[in-house]
Amino acid sequence: MKEILQQIKEVVVQGFKDCGYDEKYGMVTLSNRPDLCQFQCNGALAAAKEYKKAPIGIAGEVAEKLAANTMFSKCEACPPGFINMNLSDEFIANFVSQMAADDERFGVDKVSTPKKVMIDYGGPNVAKPLHVGHLRSAIIGESIKRTARFMGDEVIGDVHLGDWGLQMGLIITELKLRKPELVYFDENYDGEYPTEPPFTITELEEIYPCASGKSKEDEAYKEAAMNATFELQHGRKGYQALLAHILNVSVTDLKKNYEKLDVDFDLWKGESDAQPYIPDMVQKMKDDGFAYISEGALVVDVKEETDTKEVPPCMILKSDGASLYNTTDLATMVWRMKDYNPDSIIYVVDKRQELYFTQVFRCAKKTGIVPDETNLYFVGFGTMNGKDGKPFKTRQGGVMRLEYLLSEVEEKMLEKIKENGTMSDEDAEKTAKIVGLSAVKYGDLSNQASKDYIFDIDRFTSAEGNTGPYILYTIVRCKSILAKAGDVVIKGSILPAHSDSERALQLELTKFMAALSSAYEDMAPHKICAYIYDLANAFNRFYHDTKILAEENDEVKASYLKLLTLTRDVLEKSIDLLGFKAPERM
Ligand code: ARG
Repeated sequence: MKEILQQIKEVVVQGFKDCGYDEKYGMVTLSNRPDLCQFQCNGALAAAKEYKKAPIGIAGEVAEKLAANTMFSKCEACPPGFINMNLSDEFIANFVSQMAADDERFGVDKVSTPKKVMIDYGGPNVAKPLHVGHLRSAIIGESIKRTARFMGDEVIGDVHLGDWGLQMGLIITELKLRKPELVYFDENYDGEYPTEPPFTITELEEIYPCASGKSKEDEAYKEAAMNATFELQHGRKGYQALLAHILNVSVTDLKKNYEKLDVDFDLWKGESDAQPYIPDMVQKMKDDGFAYISEGALVVDVKEETDTKEVPPCMILKSDGASLYNTTDLATMVWRMKDYNPDSIIYVVDKRQELYFTQVFRCAKKTGIVPDETNLYFVGFGTMNGKDGKPFKTRQGGVMRLEYLLSEVEEKMLEKIKENGTMSDEDAEKTAKIVGLSAVKYGDLSNQASKDYIFDIDRFTSAEGNTGPYILYTIVRCKSILAKAGDVVIKGSILPAHSDSERALQLELTKFMAALSSAYEDMAPHKICAYIYDLANAFNRFYHDTKILAEENDEVKASYLKLLTLTRDVLEKSIDLLGFKAPERM
């Protein structure tokens, strides 16, 4: 369906043309004085200069032309030269009826030229527990993915595991100390390696911080870990077998965690998958004259004349020949282009890596790894802070593990649900999980991604205000009224509004398409949140104002129920794009 603003604009443009003015003056926006009108056109103010006439005169002429159109219930010129417009209730009702008739999409068309998009999000580091720093990437990336998919793009999500750094060498070193008898450490061993991993996830998660701590205090230990990393990266068989175990054990655990978050990835590739592409890539950069040695390291210049801040060269290889995070990201682009040839790649990463990605993107374009026509986007997110304004920590001051955070929120929700006391324990627990996830995800997504935000468990779990639980309450309210209404027709056309609050609700529904397309274009899930918050408010005002089930006129009552159905469906579609669900009751 054509967006409502577009439909109005076409009529207004025609109005300007009919009165002999250029069509460019026919732009329409939502009114910034909703108390005066629903939509406005400021074009006459600009046209006045070109036509050397008073703006109010032009506005008056055009408004008079438009007033004849049944689309409007009001169309008038206002000093100094605005055109204020209200849509007729019939037009609005007809628009929302068409949305309701469009079963799965509620009027939202797919994009006319779908793109192939890869999203790099999640980015957990193997063997390190998933912590809240990775939470934002997963939550935001998942929503961007679902939205792009809904708009018709072919979307491939890749978790891009951090599985190639010093952390591997650290784990190997610590394991060797603890269990030197393992065959993985015997250089002369040439049999098959065991299929059972020599550790559990719990052990693995204890080994890493232990090793990391030791390496900070003990030079020799650090040296050993670096050495092990080097040997691993240069093909030592026993270590590669260990890496495979570390990966397996970690990935199984990561998958469980992401499942709890309702986040899933199409590809489970990691930094290690890029390694085979490095030698050829580096050689080509040298052959093409892009890479040169500077202070021992191999670098590519990426600064541009228009830079206001210094952009240092992109380092490709360290002086000892070791590859870096950059090298891996560039080599990852090599296989992404080769295997998928996407139209764009979106990176959802902590905004502190912005300069880094500027370097990597420029290097990729300059050296031809990524062709000009492929877009590279960096969606940088801010830090999730605690109430003290500092990065979120556990009560003990340590890094908060994702699972603990989720269970803390669930417990809080469970308490609240039990206070209401109408559910069995089992139902209460299930519901607490669903609502808890909405609290965490909406709490995050309702902020513009690039901003830091404060994780406030009390506020996020509250059923009042701009929160996930508030949206879910609204959906559950719709569902429960519909359930009470029983067997009535809830599909079909919706009647023109019977009250101001109903008109406001219908009008809010008409804005769904615009909200989704701007969330999609700007890769900005917070725009979906802002929209559904307004929609939920409009619905709740209507609900408080209207006797829905007690309405005596059957036709009116049926229309109310259809409006409820559409409201429920639009809200549920929206939260699905945000990455959470609503329960049946709460
Ligand atoms: N593993 C990285 C980290 O924890 C994030 C990876 C982001 N994606 C990328 N292609 N570099 O910081």
